[in-house]
Amino acid sequence: MDLLELRDISKIYGTLKALQNINLTIKQGEWLAIMGPSGSGKTTMMNIIGCMDKPSAGSVILDGQTISRESAKNLTAIRRDKIGLIFQQFHLINYLTAVENVMVAQYYHSMPDEKEALLALERVGLANRAKHLPSQLSGGEQQRVCIARALINYPMLILADEPTGNLDETNEGIVLEIFRQLHREGSTIIVVTHDPEVAEEAQRTVVLEHGRIAHIHPHGSHPHGGGHDHHHHAEETEVPA
Ligand SMILES: Nc1ncnc2c1ncn2[C@@H]1O[C@H](COP(=O)(O)OP(=O)(O)OP(=O)(O)O)[C@@H](O)[C@H]1O
Ligand SMILES: [Mg+2]
Repeated sequence: MDLLELRDISKIYGTLKALQNINLTIKQGEWLAIMGPSGSGKTTMMNIIGCMDKPSAGSVILDGQTISRESAKNLTAIRRDKIGLIFQQFHLINYLTAVENVMVAQYYHSMPDEKEALLALERVGLANRAKHLPSQLSGGEQQRVCIARALINYPMLILADEPTGNLDETNEGIVLEIFRQLHREGSTIIVVTHDPEVAEEAQRTVVLEHGRIAHIHPHGSHPHGGGHDHHHHAEETEVPA
């Protein structure tokens, strides 16, 4: 089943065409990577998919609903109910502890529930850091709090814009392992990345150039095993330009 369809999407800023005639379909349970040079439209596309922005033209169909026609108020509700967002900048509230940061996200969906928030932190391996402030956490740990926060309402679509952009290799491995786990559990994931090793984990990579889809690389089936010292085997056909 298709979870998401972009039909002839364009986004124009004045005279700048940030996105031009994007057509793309994403299946439920798919893990998609988006690559492309700086300014090629990756974040613009994620913002449109994530109900934070509207296209200038074209339609976006999420879970059978044409969200590009919805009002800003409805978009907020759709985002809250269906989408989990993970950013490169962590956007944690610095005077709240890890578990409180996760509970803030719950507040927008339902009632804050500390037990459930602790469970979400446990899923990302941070049960023992729940009472720490962001300033007391490493970058990798802060990113994992963000992932826990994004997962709190079991979103049907997880959007991550350079989630490993600020992390060292060890923490990148930990975050990727969480994504592998989510993928195994059936989550649909879209990850923007500059890192070919991160993209290789996905089932397909869409490469944007100047706001257009330049190419789409399918990746071979991957074993999804191996833990943190998972090794990447580059395949000849899948090295994006
Ligand atoms: N609100 C805006 N107003 C005007 N121009 C914008 C706006 N947002 C983005 N742009 C322009 O649209 C183009 C695409 O930007 P976008 O942020 O999508 O690029 P990107 O692929 O995410 O780049 P990066 O890899 O640097 O994050 C850029 O030329 C950018 O300057
Ligand atoms: Mg960007």
